Amino acid sequence: MGKINGRDIVIKVSDVTICYDDLGESTTPVIFIHGFPFDKSSWKPQMDFLSKQYRVIAYDIRGFGKSTSGSEEADISLFADDLLLFMDLLEIQKAIICGLSMGGYIVLNAVSRYPDRFSAMILSDTQCIADTNEVKEKRKQSIDKINGGGLVEYVDGFVNAIFYKDTIAQRKELVDEIRNVILATEPLIITSALTALARRWETCSALPAITIPCLILCGSDDKITPPEQAEYMKVHIADSVLHLINNSAHMSNLENPTEFNRYLKDFLSGIQNI
Ligand code: MLT
Repeated sequence: MGKINGRDIVIKVSDVTICYDDLGESTTPVIFIHGFPFDKSSWKPQMDFLSKQYRVIAYDIRGFGKSTSGSEEADISLFADDLLLFMDLLEIQKAIICGLSMGGYIVLNAVSRYPDRFSAMILSDTQCIADTNEVKEKRKQSIDKINGGGLVEYVDGFVNAIFYKDTIAQRKELVDEIRNVILATEPLIITSALTALARRWETCSALPAITIPCLILCGSDDKITPPEQAEYMKVHIADSVLHLINNSAHMSNLENPTEFNRYLKDFLSGIQNI
């Protein structure tokens, strides 16, 4: 299948149906991958802004948003394989790839395994390390809480942890929107993804082999994937640049879209053959 412009397009990718938005025109598309446990709508400010100039695609990872979950166990490598199959089906030989947090884990997994398929990457509020034992234990406690009927309590705690204090105080609509996206997700999808996150491999050892241009963005107050992790990736990816996004925590693309989009646009304008 070639290119169809539109929103909420569905396509069969191995055993699942992936739902995606495909807007704008350019030789090389920019593909956006959302974090855990959100959906493609979390890239709206970037899709609206960039689609005037570039082809931009955002899709729901299997199980999230309007994509189906299939029967395979959730795994970051499986999510990366879905991305590659999705690109094959859309006849995209090379993409510029952008991921936030878990989306960034998928980007790093895909770029290190299939380097020829990407011409640039954007890593937002993410990291290359695997989970520490402490984080693994916290994920286990979250799974137990959700399985014990405590989904709302889990989501409230999670939402408080991902947003900057001013966002929580002043942008109730945004916080509620994200909260509702999470609450609309099947509890089993959330717990399976928590297990996949806890099991993921580190990708730090793959960073020195990355030769494509890389933009690293991170909320200045991100406590989940903090600026030190972004700095580590900057030091180890040769052609990389790092910017901290002011007045933001883990959701920097939504908390300060003006700054985020400016860095994104400047980065894309410096890329050949886009
Ligand atoms: C995300 O935003 O994707 C998650 O918070 C990532 C994580 O918990 O490691």
